[in-house]
Amino acid sequence: MTTAEPHREYTLILVKPDGVQRALVGALLGRFERRGLKIVGLKMVAVARALAERHYAEHQGKFFFDDLVDHLTAAPVVAAVLEGPEAIRIVRSMVGSTRPWEAAPGTIRGDLALHGLRNLIHASDAPETAAAEIALWFDPAEVYAYTRELDRWVLED
Ligand code: PPS
Repeated sequence: MTTAEPHREYTLILVKPDGVQRALVGALLGRFERRGLKIVGLKMVAVARALAERHYAEHQGKFFFDDLVDHLTAAPVVAAVLEGPEAIRIVRSMVGSTRPWEAAPGTIRGDLALHGLRNLIHASDAPETAAAEIALWFDPAEVYAYTRELDRWVLED
């Protein structure tokens, strides 16, 4: 991965199996693209149990750990790396609270999720976890540095 200007951040999102099964991949990625974030890595993954366990390692030992791993491995996911200024916080705010009934309208979960942990999407929550999660899901060569003509209309004052 090439490091861009210091204010740029990279974050990982996963459209979880419920999002893929509900045919929401395009709609969810479209929200991030419309916001101005740049997709710099993208793939579909049939998630091995070992990968799911590493991804959720910080929750190992919690009562819901097995459910979490079962869900992530139930069907393919779509993984993406998004780039943009303050991308981690911006993406988290767009995703909304973990529990759909607490998620504000206008957020992904507040608009599209209803029940329990069928919450459609995972997003990195801090710079350290974003770096670790990107390294877990993507080889460096799978994260692209490229310019977009539109960025001068999105990023420059
Ligand atoms: S916690 O307890 O504060 O660490 O949990 P939280 O940060 O809200 O959620 C972390 C991920 O665990 C999922 N989660 C659960 N899955 C199944 N059952 C229960 N009860 C449960 N509680 C939390 C939650 O969806 C988060 O997954 P991701 O994919 O990171 O959004």
